[in-house]
Amino acid sequence: MSEHQEEPKLMIDLVKVSKTYLPDIQALSDVSLSVRKGEIVFLTGKSGAGKSTLLRLLTRMEKPTKGVIEVSGHDLNLISTVKLQILRRSIGFAFQDFKLLPERTVAENIAIAMEVSYTRPSVMQTRIRKLLQRLGLVEKHNTPTSGLSRGEQQRVAIARALANNPELILADEPTGNLDSETTEMVMALFRQYNQQGATLVIATHDTSIYQGTSHRVIELREGRIVARGDEEPEAEAPAPDPALAFADDLFSDE
Ligand SMILES: Nc1ncnc2c1ncn2[C@@H]1O[C@H](COP(=O)(O)OP(=O)(O)O)[C@@H](O)[C@H]1O
Ligand SMILES: [Mg+2]
Repeated sequence: MSEHQEEPKLMIDLVKVSKTYLPDIQALSDVSLSVRKGEIVFLTGKSGAGKSTLLRLLTRMEKPTKGVIEVSGHDLNLISTVKLQILRRSIGFAFQDFKLLPERTVAENIAIAMEVSYTRPSVMQTRIRKLLQRLGLVEKHNTPTSGLSRGEQQRVAIARALANNPELILADEPTGNLDSETTEMVMALFRQYNQQGATLVIATHDTSIYQGTSHRVIELREGRIVARGDEEPEAEAPAPDPALAFADDLFSDE
C-alpha cells in the first residue's frame, strides 16, 4: 500500500467471486465476503465445498474466473508482480498438505518463511525457538520433517506460517491431525497473534474449534456461502486472553 492511501479497514473483500477449474468444476459460485482487519473468521463446510480454493485465491495462487478480490486494499486482478510479492510477505499460509521440504529440518523449514523477508539470523533463531516451545516441538528443532508424525508436520507448517508475524494468517484445516490438547495450543497461539493485530481466516470442518467462540463462522456448500454468521459483528474489544502473558515475550525477538 502506498503511504498516500488511507489505511483500508477491510483486510479481505470478495465481490461475486467464482472459480471454475477446467474443464467444468465449479469450485466457487458468486461468493461475496468481507473480513475486517483484526477479525477471526472460520470458513467451514464439507470436503469439496470450496474452502481451500477460497484461501488460495486470497494469495493469488489461483485466479478467480469471475469477480473482484481485494486483500489489504490491493485488487488482486490488477496488482503488479512486485506488489504481489510484497503483499505475500505479509500473509502466512498454513497449507492443508503442509508443503514442507522433507529433507530439511524443522528449523530450516520455518526459516524459509523469514528468509524471503530478510529477517536477521539471530532474530530468526529466536522466533523459531519460541514458536517451537509454544507448539511443543522443541526437541524436533533439528529433525528432518520427513521423520515427523502428521500432527508434528502440521504444527511445523503452522509455525512457518506465523514466523513472519504476518498481518493475515490463512490456516487450512490447521488442526486436522491434532488431538484436543494440541488443538488448544494452536488455537491459543492463533488468538495471541490476533490480539497483536493479525487477521485470521481458518478453514476447518472441525466444528469443535469454533463452538463457543464469538467469531464469525461462514459456511460454504458446493461453492456457495449458505451461512455467514453475523455479517456486522460488534466492534468488540478482544477479551483478555491468558496467552497474552506470553505475547510480549514471543513478539520481542530477544
Ligand atoms: N486444482 C484443482 N483442479 C481441479 N479441481 C479442483 C482443484 N482444487 C480443487 N478442486 C475441486 O474444487 C472443489 C472445491 O475443492 P476445495 O476448494 O479443495 O474444497 P474444500 O477445501 O472445501 O475441501 C472440489 O470439487 C475439488 O475437487
Ligand atoms: Mg480443503
